[in-house]
Amino acid sequence: MKLDQYSREALEKLNSELTQHLELAQGNRMALDLSRGKPAPDQLDLAAPLDQPLQSYIASDGTDARNYGSLRGLPEARALGADLTGVPAENLIATGNSSLFLMYIASQTALNQGLWGDKRRWSRTATPKFLTPVPGYDRHFTMSETLGIEMINIPMTDSGPDMARAEELVRQDPDIKGIWCVPKYANPTGCIYSPETVQRMAMLPATSAADDFVVFWDNAYAAHDFTFPRAPLTDLYQAALEAGTEDHVLLFGSTSKITYASGGVSFVGASDSVLDTLEKHLSVMLIGPDKVSQLRHARFLGGRLEEHMAEHAKLLTPKFDLVEQILSTELGDLDIASWTHPSGGYFVSLDVTPGTATEIIDTAREAGLALTPAGATFPYGRDPDDKNIRIAPTFATLEDLQLALELLTLCVKLVTARRLLEASADLEE
Ligand SMILES: Cc1ncc(COP(=O)(O)O)c(C=O)c1O
Repeated sequence: MKLDQYSREALEKLNSELTQHLELAQGNRMALDLSRGKPAPDQLDLAAPLDQPLQSYIASDGTDARNYGSLRGLPEARALGADLTGVPAENLIATGNSSLFLMYIASQTALNQGLWGDKRRWSRTATPKFLTPVPGYDRHFTMSETLGIEMINIPMTDSGPDMARAEELVRQDPDIKGIWCVPKYANPTGCIYSPETVQRMAMLPATSAADDFVVFWDNAYAAHDFTFPRAPLTDLYQAALEAGTEDHVLLFGSTSKITYASGGVSFVGASDSVLDTLEKHLSVMLIGPDKVSQLRHARFLGGRLEEHMAEHAKLLTPKFDLVEQILSTELGDLDIASWTHPSGGYFVSLDVTPGTATEIIDTAREAGLALTPAGATFPYGRDPDDKNIRIAPTFATLEDLQLALELLTLCVKLVTARRLLEASADLEE
């Protein structure tokens, strides 16, 4: 039965039962954590062969991987990047372990030097702005804020950002210089952008009133499917070539959640001329990337990316199934929450009754469960409806995940029941 159809008596009974359960949980002094979107140790172990000594350090083009140079990365690493991101190898730079670092460098270059070898740079305007589909990835938002880029929220749908809204805004405002996208298994909703969304995204720089608009395509979960063959994502780079907007798309990816989060390879894809600009800018701070890591990744993953990701899926599927099972058993009939059912990626996005997320997260924390802070999935840490909670199930063991989800759903029910009781008391007054 829906919770808002409970009688006052039934709500009071539920409130006192749940309060007792919460007190018991508090007494257990648990230390559970659903805030970290990190690979679990058994996922990291899947890449153990990376640590075996390389038989040879000489790459396919004769480069000695141990030495300086090759700013664009080794050919075999770029081929791996092509397999991962869908961008042709010749349009990729393969570099150090962090794609986030590449996004920062690219943003900074677009802001201060420009990506196009002419006078266009975002700093020409006092208030450069970005569209931020929400809920989204907190580090994108922190990056924009740090660089002085204002953010304008647009809603996420099951097929990607609300493109009609994005088009309307970019047509009107030349200060809007870009958009953040996580196109496959989006962080945190887990949706995959539909073919239509990708086509419209490729057109967005042409629709825009700005002549220096850039789509930031952070494909962090490109290969992180739970079922195989991999779910398709329409090729943005190809669509941009067809739309003539290829100088206005930047595509990112990395092996962070494929091998080691701290010791992988990252990629940026762009048109020839934009890639030249980025390479020039990188050369100011880097004589050459860690090509030994590139070589070991290319040799370990080359031709078997899908096979390797299937091993991750075997470890992750039971965790995501457990989340789904507990959420639907505990909350399904009450009509007080909705959540996503991703078939890949790292997160489940839970929406609770507007105005209750902060209190639910605080209550859970007091009982020993750490969750991503309320508001973190929105720019400036402000969720206008105070309703979104990001669940990151990968790092916990199955046993801890079960306890954590039981506690989380208990807090959702308790806080919502208390609010309904307060509202009915107000009505009686
Ligand atoms: C959407 C998204 N992009 C980028 C990253 C970080 O990628 P990297 O380790 O390559 O910097 C993450 C990590 O959680 C992420 O969720």
